[in-house]
Amino acid sequence: MIQFIHDSDRESFENALRFGQRQIRRLVETHPDFYPMYTSEGKWKHDGPAWTHWCDGFLPGLMWLFYRHLGPEHPDARFWMENAVRYSKPLESRKADSDVHDLGFIFFSAFYRWYQVTRDKSIRDIVLHAGKTLAQRFNEEGQYLRSFVTEDSVFIDSMMNVGLIFYAARECNDRKLRDIAVRHCITTRRFLVRSDGSTAHEGIFDLETGEFLRQNTQQGFRADSCWSRGLAWALYGFSTSYEYSRDPRFLQTAEACADYYITHTPADGIPPWDYNAPPENRSLVDTSAAAIAAAALLRLCRQGPDPIKGHFYWSTAIHILRSLCNKYLATNDPAWEGMLKGGVYHVNKDLGVDESVMWGEYFFVEALEEALRVMAEMPKRTAPAALAVQ
Ligand code: GLY
Repeated sequence: MIQFIHDSDRESFENALRFGQRQIRRLVETHPDFYPMYTSEGKWKHDGPAWTHWCDGFLPGLMWLFYRHLGPEHPDARFWMENAVRYSKPLESRKADSDVHDLGFIFFSAFYRWYQVTRDKSIRDIVLHAGKTLAQRFNEEGQYLRSFVTEDSVFIDSMMNVGLIFYAARECNDRKLRDIAVRHCITTRRFLVRSDGSTAHEGIFDLETGEFLRQNTQQGFRADSCWSRGLAWALYGFSTSYEYSRDPRFLQTAEACADYYITHTPADGIPPWDYNAPPENRSLVDTSAAAIAAAALLRLCRQGPDPIKGHFYWSTAIHILRSLCNKYLATNDPAWEGMLKGGVYHVNKDLGVDESVMWGEYFFVEALEEALRVMAEMPKRTAPAALAVQ
């Protein structure tokens, strides 16, 4: 294991986290109580449309991560804790929002992290409420959690949200909720994950019979292409679903998605926005997909039984983070308000293209914090596979 650790990585990950704290401080001081989604020419505040509201948890989530990284004794800990609470609180009403499939993005990043820090049961109850609300989107005929766009649609992104239902099922000992989560994962794996580990963004079903009709996309290039962020959501989401369910099919799917990512991404570990993008924008990358993939690989590396694979996933995640730190940090551009350049929101609607995006910042910080925490334990442990699940 030791051969994968370089002091220069440690230093550059610490620097990136310090830079991230400066940028988020600047954001909350410049635009108090504003929840950004993506930058426009490097600026967080602009009039660009949201398309859908799924990102508000990432800002408090970043603050909870900074708090955890620094520890309660650090002079800045109080600032991050107070602001994390301040920015989390207004989101509580979303626990009853049945119009979106995105509650996992909001409640895992803000409220679950809050609960992890305080162990306050009333905060845990908010997360459980959100999980039960999300389960109401389950379509019995098609066996999926429907997306926000139409009743007949399921998104690969929902793999990042289904964990909220697994969590509520476990904490409430609710068999029906668990079944909903498992069945959604099985449907997604069957119809949206292809045999080579690539993913479709969307699946369309017959509303009367529940029959699967076709693959489709909203944010990718084509129905049959592999939108890289969708692949990263699947990699992370199936890994989380395995963690909750211990269903080996979900581990196998997460590994298939990881293998697609690793074998199809350029050598620096940063993927194109879509693996089948047309020549005119093939060089456009999505650093947010890379950050999500790194965070996912840091989970996957301790889940499977094979330590060699675990080491491979770990070193791939470190390699991705190294590239993000070396090539995409906005440190040399004082006017740029984000942390990570080269993120993409919605190419087809021309929203947040080659910008900073809040979920990219969040999963980048999650991955850096996790990598540093594991590195700090390295002398005592021998491999990530030996680390306990959080
Ligand atoms: N809606 C989730 C995403 O843009 O990845």
